[in-house]
Amino acid sequence: MKVFINKRIPEIGINMLQEAGLEIIFPENENLTYDEWVQYCRNTDAILNIGGDFKYDKAFFDACPDIKAIALYSVGFDHVDIKEASLRNIPIGNTPDVLSRATSDVAFLLMQSVARRASYNFQKVKEGNWGAFDPLNALGQELYGKTLGVFGLGRIGFHMAEKCKKAFDMKIIYHNRRHNEEAERELDAKYVSFDELVTDSDVLSIHANFTAEHKELFNNGVFGKMKSNAIFINTARGGFHQEQDLYKALTEGKIWGAGLDVTNPEPMSADNPILELSNVCVLPHIGSATIEARNGMARLAAGNLIAFSKGEKMPNCANP
Ligand code: DGY
Repeated sequence: MKVFINKRIPEIGINMLQEAGLEIIFPENENLTYDEWVQYCRNTDAILNIGGDFKYDKAFFDACPDIKAIALYSVGFDHVDIKEASLRNIPIGNTPDVLSRATSDVAFLLMQSVARRASYNFQKVKEGNWGAFDPLNALGQELYGKTLGVFGLGRIGFHMAEKCKKAFDMKIIYHNRRHNEEAERELDAKYVSFDELVTDSDVLSIHANFTAEHKELFNNGVFGKMKSNAIFINTARGGFHQEQDLYKALTEGKIWGAGLDVTNPEPMSADNPILELSNVCVLPHIGSATIEARNGMARLAAGNLIAFSKGEKMPNCANP
């Protein structure tokens, strides 16, 4: 079976594929145009996909009728039309769990960075503006006993909630498609309506899978209902928030600040006015960027393709 891999991944995954006898095709240049991408995919049986540059939709599947399986090097699959893939019997593998700790670490880091204005203060030091001790300048807020609202309490949300509970004894509220009994039992998490989540959270952190119904869910209307000390954290997908509305909420003091590991589009342009704000920390989508998580993702992605090549079900599959 021929597998097209669009970027280098940790060796552990490549070794697994080679040992299983799969033929690997790497592109000559990793920055492919859509047409070049399609050209590579036309000549392979399967794809190990890194990144979300191109959509796997009807047009793609029509253009590449020989593709039999796709293993995503990500837990998110918002760039894949799963229904269309399922209609064609194409399994879509993903990499859950192995990146949950790492991604929740970044949400936790952003929360603290924004609460204590870390990136703004770091910037001042870099600019030579350390300044004299000032009892009133650049004050942060403490998180002890505050309320964390989790939108989407699955594996990553659980880890974020657990950290917040243990480190700051935060109260956990959440909104989800279904109740998370483990979180209710172990973290005393309380299921609330979306409106309550928005109005009652001191920190609101998004950990849901992104779907079309979520597009710009966090907009003017929502930011307007949040507490003025609220911190908005998005480590899931940039499409969840409306960027101009977020900018407005941040500059008009409707909310305290925002920590973003994801933007729409990515990368965020360096002249984006949001980057000028002192109450914001933006990171370049590094949620899963640890050695441990990336090795785990390589193992799962390779494992999915190997299982498929043997006629087995992918162990981690996004198709229902
Ligand atoms: C994922 O796995 O969906 C991440 O966003 C990619 O690191």
